Amino acid sequence: MVTGCAGFVGSHLAEALLKEGQTVVGVDVFNDNYSRGLKISNLRHLTEWDSFEFVPIDLAQGDLAGVVAESDVVYHLAGEPGVRSSWGDRYETYLRNNLRATQQLLESIKSMPDVRFVYASSSSVYGDSETMPTSESETLRPLSPYGQTKAAMELLCDLYRKSHGVDAVGLRYFTVYGPRQRPDMAFHRFCRAAINGEPIAVFGDGLQTRDFTFVSDVVAATRAAGHMPVVDHLFNIGGGSPASVRDALSIIEALAEKPLDVTYGEVERGDVRDTAANTTLARTQLAFDPRIGLEEGLAAEFAWVREAIASNLI
Ligand SMILES: NC(=O)c1ccc[n+]([C@@H]2O[C@H](COP(=O)([O-])OP(=O)(O)OC[C@H]3O[C@@H](n4cnc5c(N)ncnc54)[C@H](O)[C@@H]3O)[C@@H](O)[C@H]2O)c1
Repeated sequence: MVTGCAGFVGSHLAEALLKEGQTVVGVDVFNDNYSRGLKISNLRHLTEWDSFEFVPIDLAQGDLAGVVAESDVVYHLAGEPGVRSSWGDRYETYLRNNLRATQQLLESIKSMPDVRFVYASSSSVYGDSETMPTSESETLRPLSPYGQTKAAMELLCDLYRKSHGVDAVGLRYFTVYGPRQRPDMAFHRFCRAAINGEPIAVFGDGLQTRDFTFVSDVVAATRAAGHMPVVDHLFNIGGGSPASVRDALSIIEALAEKPLDVTYGEVERGDVRDTAANTTLARTQLAFDPRIGLEEGLAAEFAWVREAIASNLI
């Protein structure tokens, strides 16, 4: 079972599982964080498989026991992502989609000890870390309501692991990018503006760094977490080659073959300065070995954005 299968990472994961010959039940509710058209387009990569079944339900509502009954692995990627929109009124949606939905799912599998439950957490749980690269034992100091809901989600999963024996494994993804990336994410916005010849507004001075992680590397780690024996229960999944936003922009400029019109502005509340993942645990227990560097990965995302613009998808 893959929750959030119409989303960016979930659609790639479900597609990889189908290509491996697995049978996949995909769940999504087409949450309004971005266009339904884009999510339906993501889903089309899955619906062509006979071994795929789509269940359009809201995880935060209703009884999920029937949906999970046949699953041996539940990959829980549904959620409310994004740091900036987690301030203010939308916080309620974060609570609902990151916590209530997860709790409902945990309730439905708590009597199924043979089910591996892999869930997507985030590097946002760390906030501005004191140590770089950051390891999983770092004290959590989220800087955004989004990061706070992800930290609470980890605690909830750990509670069900200890109290009910749920075989829960959490993955702290570090800035995932690649084809189908969400429209609110920086590389998507930058590529689209570069192709359309529009100005690019960067939050901050562009020298902030991120451990950018290509989506196929995230999928490989997530897949491994679904079946490998593990000692630990939380893993950093980060690309291994931190780069600044300015580095990324110069790669995009080369791909666009024209100068970019970039302005630098205020740092947004909740944005951390730098992220870098210590991936020792994932490398040793999940055979995590990120393969796609920033130039190759950005070229793939740029090509996808160009195609999506040409077909009026975005
Ligand atoms: N993309 C990243 O860089 C990144 C980084 C860290 C963590 N994550 C986490 O990874 C997961 C996937 O992120 P993404 O970028 O693919 O986001 P996404 O928004 O593209 O995908 C999430 C999907 O979950 C669905 N969903 C939300 N609430 C639901 C509910 N109550 N019931 C059923 N479906 C629901 C949405 O409709 C959406 O299609 C999220 O949990 C996110 O917090 C992502």
